[in-house]
Amino acid sequence: KQTIKLGIFGLGTVGTGLVELLHTNAPVLHNANINFEITQIVVHNLSKQRAPITHGLPISIDSTTILTNPAIQIVVEAMGTIEPAKTYISAALNAGKHVVTANKDLLAKHGPELIALAQQNKVNLYYEASVAGGIPILQTLTNSYASDQVTQIVGVLNGTANYILSQMGTNHLSYAAALQQAQKLGFAESNPAQDVEGIDSAYKLSILARLVFGTAVQISEFPIKGITAVTATDLQLANELGFKIKLLAISRYTQNGLALTVAPTLVAQGTLLANVDNENNGINITSAALGNSFLAGKGAGALPTAQSLTNDLLQIARNINTTSPELPINTPNNVPLIPVTPV
Ligand code: HSE
Repeated sequence: KQTIKLGIFGLGTVGTGLVELLHTNAPVLHNANINFEITQIVVHNLSKQRAPITHGLPISIDSTTILTNPAIQIVVEAMGTIEPAKTYISAALNAGKHVVTANKDLLAKHGPELIALAQQNKVNLYYEASVAGGIPILQTLTNSYASDQVTQIVGVLNGTANYILSQMGTNHLSYAAALQQAQKLGFAESNPAQDVEGIDSAYKLSILARLVFGTAVQISEFPIKGITAVTATDLQLANELGFKIKLLAISRYTQNGLALTVAPTLVAQGTLLANVDNENNGINITSAALGNSFLAGKGAGALPTAQSLTNDLLQIARNINTTSPELPINTPNNVPLIPVTPV
């Protein structure tokens, strides 16, 4: 069994979720022959009150405790926003450390240069958690669609906005009350304007566009409209006409180029996208050979996002330790068969 030492930047909703998941998943990670050890955590503010699960862990405000520790092989960045995350990630890559991050703002704005830096240093930069929380969308697109040609991606990519629209439409909550609830549940960004104004969805769409179509695009280059102007009456009228209103992020490949947009959109009731509610995200992928396929699940929240981070850690650990078995993280060995009554 191999022990891999981790350095973690950030102990907010996502960082704390990661600590919790590494703790609860320790037996299954052990089963995959890997032991992740949290060697150092770096935060902005030492005096903040923290979840009991983090008590006793080595926490510092000094970034060098991670960046100059040669024993730390993988760095997790869960601070969010551009700086100091960009400086820390760049320094970690330059120090030969692999990096896992949930930072969509950063990947959308500076993805190409950070990916180039990782390549120069022959290390991995994984960011599954940056798009659609716990849904394995980036791995699916990069691995499972490698031999197909994706032509369109239509997604509900922001859990907070979707939660607000769902709660306003179904439970008749006010916009303000629904937003407050999303903040309380840990779905919203520290600046929730990013969620409701479509910026967060646009960052995620930009990451997808680069990954799938190779187009490095800034969010200022395509139209973005959020949900701040959607009223309870709009939702009610849509409902009466057989629709739901969803904040959709759309990426469409045409003969003339790539059409990107984020906007509240009428979606026919009963369709897979219309059924994506609350903090869930859903992504419809259209490709030349497969046609349509659909992924859905929790797009925000501590544990779903931490699950994507943990899985990225596991993928990197498998590359470091090439002898680790190719078992899914949660597959126990030799599961016995149980009798099933024939139908
Ligand atoms: N604030 C984001 C959302 C978190 O609500 O979807 C996940 O990226």
